[in-house]
Parts: sequence; C-alpha cells; structure tokens
Amino acid sequence: MLKAAALPALDFRSASVARTQVSAPMLDSSFDPWIEVHRANLQHNVAEISRRAGSRPILAVIKNNGYGLGVVNAGQLLETSPSIAGLAVVKLHEAMSLRDAGVRKPILLMGPFDERNLADLIARDIMPMVYTPIGPVLDRIAAARQKPAPLHVCIDTGIGRVGVPFRQASPLVRDLAGRSSVRIEGVMMTFTEDPEFDGEQLSRFKTLCESLEKSGVKLGRKHAASSFALFQRPDAFLDMVRPGMAIYGVYSEPEFRRAGTLDLRPALSLKARVAYVKQLPKGDSAGYNRAYMAKNDVWVATLPIGHTDGLPREAAQGARIRINGALYPIVATVSASHCIVEIGAEPRVKIGDEATVFDWQEGSRPEDVNEACKTSVYDLTMHLNPLLPRRLV
Ligand SMILES: Cc1ncc(COP(=O)(O)O)c(C=O)c1O
Repeated sequence: MLKAAALPALDFRSASVARTQVSAPMLDSSFDPWIEVHRANLQHNVAEISRRAGSRPILAVIKNNGYGLGVVNAGQLLETSPSIAGLAVVKLHEAMSLRDAGVRKPILLMGPFDERNLADLIARDIMPMVYTPIGPVLDRIAAARQKPAPLHVCIDTGIGRVGVPFRQASPLVRDLAGRSSVRIEGVMMTFTEDPEFDGEQLSRFKTLCESLEKSGVKLGRKHAASSFALFQRPDAFLDMVRPGMAIYGVYSEPEFRRAGTLDLRPALSLKARVAYVKQLPKGDSAGYNRAYMAKNDVWVATLPIGHTDGLPREAAQGARIRINGALYPIVATVSASHCIVEIGAEPRVKIGDEATVFDWQEGSRPEDVNEACKTSVYDLTMHLNPLLPRRLV
C-alpha cells in the first residue's frame, strides 16, 4: 500500500466555507471520499433559471443539507447572487445554522415548529411558513419585539401534505392579514407533479389569491414553481420561482435532460481514491455472498466508499466510475464502506488514483448513475453523508 504522504494532497483549505464540515481527523487521510462543490456551475445554473423565469426572483430551496452541498455552503454561495431573493429549508436547525454562519438573505422555514421555536426563529429573522390559526401567538411575539412577524402562508391545493386546505384558506389568510402583528410576505403552494392535475391545482390557487386580493388582502409574492414546474409550467412562475434540484445542475426527470429548456451543469461531484488493486483469477469471487464471479482472469479495484457515504447499494447494478478518464462498472455488492470496480484484463489503475462516482461530465453525471441504479436523483444527492468533507472548486 502506498503511503498517504505520497498521494496528491487534497487542498482542504480551499473549502473555507465548508470549514464547519471538516474535522481534524478527516484532514489526516486523503483516502477518505469527498464531495466537490463547483461554484461556477452553481452560478451558471442560477443564471439559466433566471433566464427561464424571465428574471423573476428565485427562492432557492437548500433543504436537506443543501441537496448534498452542505446547507451552509449552499447558503453562502447562493446568497451572493442578486437573482436569489431568499433561501428555503425544512428543518429548524438548518435555518439556525445559516444564521449562525452569517447568512443574511431572507430565510423561509418550510418545516414545522412549536411556539417557543417560533419566537426564536422570528428573533433571528427567519420567516415561518404557516397554515394553522396561530394569529394570537404571533400577536404575543410581535408585541414583545414591537415589530410585525414576516411570514409565508402555505395553501394545500391538492398535495395533501402540509398547508391549509384551499377550501378553508380564505378565513385563515384574512385573519392573519388583519393582524398588525403579521406581515404576509408570500403565499405558496406545492404541485403534485401529476401533469393532469397540476393545472387544476394552479387554478385553485389563482382563484383563491384573486378573490383575496380583490378584497384588499395583501399577499406578498405568490410562488409555486419547483424544478418540475420550471420545465413544465411557465404559467406557474407567478411572482417568484422556488426550485431546488435545478440549482444544483441536475435534471430531475430524464426527459428534461433531452428537452433543451435549461442547460444545467452539476454543481457537485462525489470522489474517492483507489484503495487497492488486484487480479482475480478466473473462478474467484468478490463481494458479500460471492455476488461477483470472475469469468476470466480480471483486475479489480477497491474504492473506500460505500452506502454509508451515500453511494446507493443499487450502484452495483451497473453504475460506472470514472478513473483516469475511462468508465468502469461497479460490480459485486456495495457494502457500508467499500465498492469494487471491474477494470478488465489489464491493471489500468493504481492505488491512489482519483475515482469519480459522479461529476459534471457526460457519462458520469448524477443522472447517469441514477439511470443505472434506477433510483431517484433526489436519493442520490440528498443521501450523501453530511460528514464527508466538502471542497470548493
Ligand atoms: C415546498 C417545496 N418547494 C420546492 C421544492 C424544490 O423542489 P425541487 O428540488 O424538485 O426543485 C421542494 C422540494 O421538494 C419543496 O418541498
């Protein structure tokens, strides 16, 4: 085995915005898998979305650890862009971490909270997404701080998840709008992404908003469009768009990749180094349960990356790893911390070589891995282990 010192060093200093993600022991081993965050691609995707949305403001969804980038990385990188009006997360601790890290742009918390949380988050300039009769609580909080609480109201037009059902929404919105403790900054809905039903949902939302606005209720920005609607429904761009996955440069549906509507470039990659290379004689096996049998003498490489890092177990069904410019299939099984790659008749790779699970190149994009795994690109990026070091490139 090569000494770690002989390997090209990882420049963790370049990951300045990720410093909270990198602990000292990780710095010691350059064999640990890591994630690269590609700043220029992120900015390119924001520009593409802005163009598609006719320069409407973008509320960037950075939930679930910033879709793999690291929530603070995503917040810090995106907030510098003038097209980004704000950032949206689902978990309270993510909203708080963004403020702790000095992120100043508006933050919308789309997840649940209790009354004590509400006072804390309003004190930290985090807008709650509300859909229950919490007017009296907001009155008390606003009275204590002598300022109205800005918030967004979530309307359920048919997804049946969170949000006040659209048939009961009017009295709630009127109640909130009528309080001096409240400033409605926006109203929002989420599509089911069933193209047959999305039109009905949008019409329910528009009808409700029109009737409220006609009677003088100020709704702030109306927003509904996630990545799916960015491709499918320009009529849902409304006052602001609210994408997640597209910002990170990944096509959420295979047909969007071919559509030419948006040129998206993956803003994150997953990498590791070859830990071991060996020749399996014909008839030898590899992996748990002897999942792989060598049909001929064959060279295989072991990578120190597995499902605990976010590499799906299904990757052993044909996902390919890029090493020194060539793509090699993952074989056998993906275990917690290892996978095995079939190199072929010649030992074309060596210990320490960089191995790319996915990046921004054709053939090794997240969508390519996803196609082989038959999972969702959301599972791929959002399941990346938050403890993996993030490097900015
Ligand atoms: C309420 C809401 N809006 C927007 C998004 C962004 O979705 P996408 O990543 O598909 O663009 C999500 C993510 O699932 C969401 O939950």
